Amino acid sequence: MTEKELRRLVKDMSRKEKIGQLLQLPGALLSGGEEVATGPLAELGLSEEDVYLAGSVLGVWSPGEIRRLQQSYVKRHPHHIPLLFMLDVINGCDTIYPIPLGLGATFDPALVKKLSKMSARETALNGIHVTFSPMVDTVRDARWGRCMESTGEDPYLNRVMARAMVRGYQGREYERTGTFEDSRVAACVKHFAAYGAPTAGRDYNNVELSERTLREDYLPAYQAAVDAGVSMVMTSFNTLNRVPSTGNRWLMHDVLRREWGFEGVVITDYAAVAEMLAHGIAEDAREAARLAMAADVDIEMCTSCYPRELPGLLEDRTVSEKQLDAAVMRVLSLKNALGLFENPYRDLDEERVEQECLSDENRRKARRGAEESFVLLKNDGILPLAPETKTALIGPYIDSREMYGAWSFIDSESVVSIREAAEKKKNKSVPFTFAKGCEILDRGTKLIGFTDVYENTATEEEEERMLEEAVAAAKEADTAVLCLGEHRAQSGEAASRAEITLPECQLRLLRAVAAVNPNTAVVLFNGRPLDLREVSELAKAILVVWFPGTEGGSAIVNTLLGRNNPSGKLPISFPYCVGQVPVHYAQLITGRPLAGSDPNNRFLSRYTDIPNEPLYPFGFGLSYTTFEISPVRLDTAEISRNKKAENRSLTATVTVTNTGDRAGCEVVQLYLRDYAGSVARPIRELRGFERVTLGAGESAEVSFTVTEKMLRFWTIDGAYASEPGRFALYIGSSSGTENGADFTLC
Ligand code: NOJ
Repeated sequence: MTEKELRRLVKDMSRKEKIGQLLQLPGALLSGGEEVATGPLAELGLSEEDVYLAGSVLGVWSPGEIRRLQQSYVKRHPHHIPLLFMLDVINGCDTIYPIPLGLGATFDPALVKKLSKMSARETALNGIHVTFSPMVDTVRDARWGRCMESTGEDPYLNRVMARAMVRGYQGREYERTGTFEDSRVAACVKHFAAYGAPTAGRDYNNVELSERTLREDYLPAYQAAVDAGVSMVMTSFNTLNRVPSTGNRWLMHDVLRREWGFEGVVITDYAAVAEMLAHGIAEDAREAARLAMAADVDIEMCTSCYPRELPGLLEDRTVSEKQLDAAVMRVLSLKNALGLFENPYRDLDEERVEQECLSDENRRKARRGAEESFVLLKNDGILPLAPETKTALIGPYIDSREMYGAWSFIDSESVVSIREAAEKKKNKSVPFTFAKGCEILDRGTKLIGFTDVYENTATEEEEERMLEEAVAAAKEADTAVLCLGEHRAQSGEAASRAEITLPECQLRLLRAVAAVNPNTAVVLFNGRPLDLREVSELAKAILVVWFPGTEGGSAIVNTLLGRNNPSGKLPISFPYCVGQVPVHYAQLITGRPLAGSDPNNRFLSRYTDIPNEPLYPFGFGLSYTTFEISPVRLDTAEISRNKKAENRSLTATVTVTNTGDRAGCEVVQLYLRDYAGSVARPIRELRGFERVTLGAGESAEVSFTVTEKMLRFWTIDGAYASEPGRFALYIGSSSGTENGADFTLC
C-alpha cells in the first residue's frame, strides 16, 4: 500500500477499530494453549468484539495455529487488517545458538549478524513477524538474572552488537527502502531504558541513575539500534528519575522521538501500562492510559487500559484523535512494510519449517557461534586434552540437553549432549568415561521456571552413590573434566540471585574430584557472572560456555579436544564475590584511588576484606596458544579539534605475534582514558576491537584510528562534546592492559 492508501484506510476506520490496533493480546487467551506469559494473565474485561479488533498477538508459536488465527481475524475484521505476530526469539528459533551474553563474548559482530539472519529465517517460516530482540541493556550487576539476555557491561560492545543484530534480523533492504525482503523479521530493541540497572540487582526494581550516566553508559546501545533502523522499541518496567518508562514523556517523546528521530512503533513491556497503578503513578486505568498515550506509546502489551479507557479520553479530548491516528498509522505502516496487506501469512510455511529449520547448515552455524563464545579463564596446561588422555567427563551437564538458556522452548531432543558428542566415532582418540556426580540443583531447592517447576528429587542415598561413582571415575582417569553450572532457570527474567556461587552439591562434587585428581578442569554453564573463587582454586582449567545452544555438546567436545581454540573474551566482569557488585572495568576514578597509593593508608576507596578488582575482568580470555602485543606506536601524539586542521585523527599501531605452537585468534582491544574532564571520567573505555587470526609464529599489524569524535562525552554543559587535554590510549588483550601511550587533544 502507498502511504496515501494507508492514510485513507485510517480515515475509514472506526474509533474502536483504531484503538484495537493498539492492543496486543496474549496468545494464551486466543488459542487456550500454554504459551509463556511473563506476567499475570489479568482479567482483561474485553468484549468479544474488542478481542477481534486487536492488532497483534504475543507468544503463539505454532505455524498451524498462526495460520488459523490469521485466517479468522482477516475474515472477521471490518477492514480485513491482518494481525502482527510477535515472539521472544532471543537466541535462535528452532536452531539455538548461544545466549546473548555468549554472543557478546565472541566480539564478532559479523558472526552475530549471520546468526541473527539465520534466526530471522526460521522465525519467519514459523509465521512470526516481530522478534523481541535485541535486548541491549547495559548489565553490571551479576545478581540480576537478565544479564544473560544482554551482550554485556560495555556500551561500545553493546552498540556494535545491537547494530549487528538489527541488521541480521531486518536486512539491509528494510534499511534502504523501508520494505522487508523475504525471510526477515522486524526487530524490537528493549528495554528502553536502563532496565539493566535495577537497584540491588532485583528484577523489576527501580533504577536510580543521573541523566549523565544514562546518556553515557545506557542510551548509546538503544540509539545504535535506532540508527540501524530498528522497527520497534519496547518500554522498560523500571522507573527513571522516578517515572516509569511507559509513562515517561521525556524519555519516549523528547529523547526517542525528537532527539533520535525514531518513527517506528513503541510497544510496552508486558502489562506495563496497568503496572503504573502499582507504581503509584496512576490512580486508575484511565490515568495510566493517558500517561502512556502522552508518552507516544503505541501498543499496550497484554493489559486493556487502552481499549477500556481511550474512548472516554478521546471523548473529552484529553487524548486527541490526531494522537490516536499517529499511533495507528505507525502500527499499520509496520504491517505494510512486512507486506501483510498483500499476504497476511508472509513467509509462514509449515513444509519449509520441516525442511529448513534445524538443517545441517544451521546447526553448523550454531556450532561455530558456540565455539567462538567460549571463554578460557584458566589453563594450567591441561587443555586441550592430548590424544590418549584417559578422561572422566563428570557432572550434571554431561547428559543434560537443557543448555539453551531461559528463552528457548524447544524440544530438547534436538540438542547434542556432551556425552553424545564425546561418544562420536571421530572423537574416540581420547578415551572417555562418564559419571553424573550430582544433580544441577541442591536438594530442597524449588525453581519456578517459565513453564515448569524444577526440583532435585534424588534421595540422599542416590546422591551419595553418584558422588562415589564420580570419585571412582576421577581416580581412574588422567584428567577429570567437570561439567557444572547454573540451571537454565536460575538466570533469565525474574531470576535475581543474592548468592552467585554454584549450588552446594556441585561444589561438593568439585572438592571430592579435585581431591583425588589434581588434573581437574571445569566446563561452566552460566547465564551471569558467578563467584568462582573456589572453582579457580580447585580447578586447573576453567572454560566458560554460557548456555551454548543446540550444538553445545559438539562445540564443547571440539574445544576439549583442541579442534577449536577458544578466543572468547568476557563481555562482563566476573566479580571476586557478590559484595563487589555492581562492578565493571569502566568505573569512575575516585578522589582516593587505591591504585598507585600507599597500601598502608587506611583512608582509600577500597574494601578491607577483599580486593577492589574483579576475579576476571572484562575483555579477559585465554587461548591454547599465546600472543604478544608490541608497545603502542602512534603516528602523532597530538590531534586537533579544529575542523580545518590536518591532524584531526591519529593512528595507533601494534604488532601482534602468535608466540605459541598452534593457530589461534586474539581479540585486540583499544581503550581510551581522559585524564581530566569537566565531569569525572571513567578509568578507561573500550573504543575499538579487532579479531586477529594467526598461525603459530605469525605476526600481524593492527591499527586503530582515534578521532576527536571518539573523545566526546556528556559534558558539564549537557551536550556531547570533546574537551582539550591529555588522554591515554591502551591496546591489549583485556581491559587490564597497561600497554599504552599518551596523546593530546588541542
Ligand atoms: C517481559 C519481558 O520483560 C520482555 O523482555 C519480553 O519481551 C516480554 N515479557 C514478552 O514476553
